[in-house]
Amino acid sequence: MKRAVLAFLLMAVAFYGPAGAEEKVAMGRKVYEKYCIGCHGEKGDGKGIAAPDLIVKPRDFTSGIYKFKTTPPGSLPRDEDLLRVIDQGLPLTSMPSFRLLPGPQKEALVAYLKSLSERWKRERPAEPLVREVKAPDFVGTPESVEKGRSIYNVRCAVCHGPSGRGDGPAGKNLKDRWGNPIRPANFTYGLINRGPRVEDIYLSITLGVDGTPMPSFASTLGEEDRWHLTSYILKLMGKIE
Ligand code: HEC
Ligand code: HEC
Repeated sequence: MKRAVLAFLLMAVAFYGPAGAEEKVAMGRKVYEKYCIGCHGEKGDGKGIAAPDLIVKPRDFTSGIYKFKTTPPGSLPRDEDLLRVIDQGLPLTSMPSFRLLPGPQKEALVAYLKSLSERWKRERPAEPLVREVKAPDFVGTPESVEKGRSIYNVRCAVCHGPSGRGDGPAGKNLKDRWGNPIRPANFTYGLINRGPRVEDIYLSITLGVDGTPMPSFASTLGEEDRWHLTSYILKLMGKIE
């Protein structure tokens, strides 16, 4: 008797779960239609009905290009990167946080987003460029802020402006990869898109922002200098004296 029950259970598992790749995409599509379509559009091309009214346009998922990830410039994002954006949303833009959605729905969304671009058929995401990241103790000290200031004036002010308002001479009339006008970040808003942690500033400096003129400084500036810049950005953001 017990054996019959066990056999039945095993058969049921084989039959109904775990959800196969196609079912996952189909479930993702349903969730997408409920929560994302108004901005990201029917085809996932970023042309939802709300898009014309938004200054920062919703992502066009058909391009397979993502801004806030942990992989090197030009690489596809990892699933964790997409999940992180879905969980946290993107500060300063209309992209909301969907933290409260059940885990399986979020994973299905990731599968669906990946089905929208041909890139995932040809390529795999690279390994993260930065794995564990923790701000060193010197970040935020007056000496570090001063070192960051001198690097900033040479490397960043041309776009971000001398006082960090995004108004440098080379920051005018810039376009992103999708043809929309884009401005260098204005640090005096006190927030950046990637997230609220000190480490998020460092990650955006290190990895750049794919699809925009914001370059990666991973190979052109040493790690310590990138942390000094983080100190100075914190200062421009009004987070430290
Ligand atoms: C109210 C409008 C709005 C809704 C609703 C919305 N988004 Fe977005 N989303 C945006 C905008 C705007 C951006 C682009 C932000 C930027 O470029 O900085 C974005 C960007 C993204 C990105 C790209 C992140 C990156 O690294 O480039 C992902 C992934 C994303 N949204 C997923 C979703 C999912 C999944 C849903 C539904 C569960 C959703 N969005 C619902 C407005 C929205
Ligand atoms: C060629 C112009 C250009 C240069 C040079 C430049 N940036 Fe940027 N930066 C941008 C643009 C454009 C954005 C906005 C990207 C967006 O909104 O998606 C940006 C965004 C940022 C952000 C915010 C990213 C986020 O998560 O929202 C940080 C931090 C940043 N830049 C730091 C720097 C630092 C530090 C330097 C110098 C080492 C620098 N940038 C040099 C154009 C530039």
